[in-house]
Amino acid sequence: MTISSLKLGKKNFPVNLIQAPLAGVSCAPFRALTWQYSQPAFSCTEMLSCKTLLHQSKVSQSRYLAKDPAEGPVCVQLSGNNPLELAEAVKRVSQYGADLIDLNCGCPVPKIRSKGAGSSLLIDPSRLYQLIHAMKQNTHLPVSIKIRVEGGSQDRFHEEIARVVSDAGADFLVVHGRHWTEHYETPCHYDDIQFFVEALNIPVIGNGDVACIISLKRMFATGCAGAMIGRAGVGQPWLIAQLRAEMAGDTFTAPDLPEIGDIFLTHVRKLMLLLNSEKFAILQARKLAKYYARTMSGKAEFCAKMNECEQMDKLTEICSEYFIG
Ligand SMILES: Cc1cc2nc3c(=O)[nH]c(=O)nc-3n(C[C@H](O)[C@H](O)[C@H](O)COP(=O)(O)O)c2cc1C
Repeated sequence: MTISSLKLGKKNFPVNLIQAPLAGVSCAPFRALTWQYSQPAFSCTEMLSCKTLLHQSKVSQSRYLAKDPAEGPVCVQLSGNNPLELAEAVKRVSQYGADLIDLNCGCPVPKIRSKGAGSSLLIDPSRLYQLIHAMKQNTHLPVSIKIRVEGGSQDRFHEEIARVVSDAGADFLVVHGRHWTEHYETPCHYDDIQFFVEALNIPVIGNGDVACIISLKRMFATGCAGAMIGRAGVGQPWLIAQLRAEMAGDTFTAPDLPEIGDIFLTHVRKLMLLLNSEKFAILQARKLAKYYARTMSGKAEFCAKMNECEQMDKLTEICSEYFIG
């Protein structure tokens, strides 16, 4: 596979690169910048629990669901394990403006697993069938699940999951090539992604460790219909555009350090507007700093200063000191 268009359910996308869901990161400002610089097929929201969504009276004010007028297609990622709640949540997000809907079946966090959601669904095929079925019955939008793989574990769920995904009528499958117990130091299990590509007649999106043209080509070698980029997209909203250009044999000039500083500041200002709070925006900015400072020689010092910063004026001053050509 290579860069191409992508058909998911009844929707067509001009490109097959996607920005992954990243809790704590993937809110509207991040997605809007990714769209502005890269125009991926779509970006995902942070994971949103069905319970939280159903108990919220003002859906549009949710940090998780708020959309920026300047963003492209959005896949809303839900988590849960109750088919009735999922059905209701799917109806709401379909009305609210989702372009696709995904169910999280990969989250390794104990709080999520203990509720029977996230990656614990991988060993509960009958529940998974009910959940996918509930999504399909309640929306006209493309629906998917995002899973982890067996990897180096003794769990044996691949064949069963492939059967359930196919029988329940999911429109596509996203596969993160690690077991839920595996950390990011464990390299992506490409052979496990390839298993799903070969076992299914629906598009499979491969995910794990794509950060440059070499890793993207490795992912495409699984035969996946598209690739999803996670961590590498943070602080580099132009990355997907760069990958598209380089795959086409074109040269791509990435933003220089002062331009990256401007993008970082735009990101933080957008967070301030969304969260309606300087304090919370700055707390988020501290987490984002190391990603925007990837290529900065004084990165450690910059991050240390950011961690002490409490006001937007100070943040702007630190940026003008460090994001220099
Ligand atoms: C900080 C962080 C938050 C994440 N949040 C989610 C999430 O909400 N939902 C989800 O399905 N995956 C989540 N993931 C997993 C990513 O979507 C992706 O599967 C993983 O990072 C592997 O892709 P990568 O190697 O390109 O980063 C998260 C990962 C990180 C590092």
